[in-house]
Amino acid sequence: MTQPVRVAILFSARGSNMQELAHHLAKPSVGGEFVLAITNRPAAGGIEFCKAQAVPCAVIDHKDYETRAGFEAEMQKALDEADVELICAAGFMRLLTADFVTRWHDRIINIHPSLLPAYKGLDTHARVLADGGKEHGCSVHYMRAEMDDGPVIVQKRVPVLAGDTPEILAARVLKQEHIAYPEALDIVIKTLEKP
Ligand code: GRF
Repeated sequence: MTQPVRVAILFSARGSNMQELAHHLAKPSVGGEFVLAITNRPAAGGIEFCKAQAVPCAVIDHKDYETRAGFEAEMQKALDEADVELICAAGFMRLLTADFVTRWHDRIINIHPSLLPAYKGLDTHARVLADGGKEHGCSVHYMRAEMDDGPVIVQKRVPVLAGDTPEILAARVLKQEHIAYPEALDIVIKTLEKP
């Protein structure tokens, strides 16, 4: 038996992707262990889930830090203390510095609600609709220093339908996010498994 890969999940709000990953990691066959959650928002809904599941959740409010580097140093400390080997950003709405992302090269992944490299950045659903796009989706990718950049691990596509609003389209994409992220996690864990 190899040791499970020690996984941290970063989130900022509702945390539905974090919860999907938590349920997935709870299966022994997955080969990973959810050892730490970190949120930058003290009011994030996902904190309650962590409490209920008895997963340690570090609340590191970015507003308490004058610089990104200071905020990230605190995150790094929590990650080191928990011996984290892989970070999953799941609806984590803070840009991370090149220093931080480089330190975690190929050990930090992210989910983005678009078919990358299309529609990097915010408000992807509204932008796809405004452009009259016929197709949308989500991507799980390795993080690189540039925002929403990096090799794609898994993508899921959805159609854009007549009558879609940003909210309706977001809900259709979110269902696929909940499938894509566990799939991507399986792929990445396999690359990290220790003999
Ligand atoms: C997801 O759509 C994610 O792709 C985006 O923010 C949303 C977060 O949702 N970056 P949740 O907090 O995981 O429910």
